[in-house]
Amino acid sequence: MEEITRFQHWENIYSTKELHEVGWYQRVPTTSLEMIKKLNLPKSASIIDIGGGDSHLAPILISEGYTNITVLDLSSKAIERAKLRLGDDASKIEWIVSDILDFKPKKKYDCWHDRAAFHFLTKKDEIEKYVSISADATNTNGSIIIGTFSEKGPTKCSGLNISQYSTELLKKTFNHCFKLIESLNPEHTTPSGFKQHFTFCKFERN
Ligand SMILES: C[S@@+](CC[C@H](N)C(=O)[O-])C[C@H]1O[C@@H](n2cnc3c(N)ncnc32)[C@H](O)[C@@H]1O
Repeated sequence: MEEITRFQHWENIYSTKELHEVGWYQRVPTTSLEMIKKLNLPKSASIIDIGGGDSHLAPILISEGYTNITVLDLSSKAIERAKLRLGDDASKIEWIVSDILDFKPKKKYDCWHDRAAFHFLTKKDEIEKYVSISADATNTNGSIIIGTFSEKGPTKCSGLNISQYSTELLKKTFNHCFKLIESLNPEHTTPSGFKQHFTFCKFERN
């Protein structure tokens, strides 16, 4: 069978599954919100959610008064759905449809957040490219928060192979440009009741 591209995979997922039917669904992205809030950023801080899909993170940040939020996702369907759900509030968010590996940021961010998008990169050159793009796009002393399946978590996500990360491995991966500030290992319960072990690391740009 012909292999489908990363783009086709995600367009298909967002065309066929409801928001709450996917394993990564969270009504409230608690760990991400707590890590972002602990940064004590001003409400005008520039925050980008990489692979944000139609997650509730950006809408919650908007409802809490943040004014400079960007969501990037490979899937145009995901962004379309997120905009529809938000209605008028959609215009408060900057939406970017792009593969992260093709992203050419036009500005620098105070906070770069990624839950369960980075871990789909399994090739060394792609992982290195992601680290380099995130480093170039983050302000000095800005932060990045990366959430992936841990070494105790699943080996696949949405049917695709992923890279698992311990805190040590994430630290080593981002070490060149970022200093580790905080690490957590939350467990996510999928809508069908399965437990998934995550590694979340927060880094500061050198
Ligand atoms: C497992 S979902 C997680 C969605 C969201 N971050 C959350 O936590 O609810 C992965 C998301 O990353 C997006 N994605 C996967 N690979 C990507 C890439 N190379 N560039 C940009 N987005 C990507 C998918 O379209 C999807 O929306």
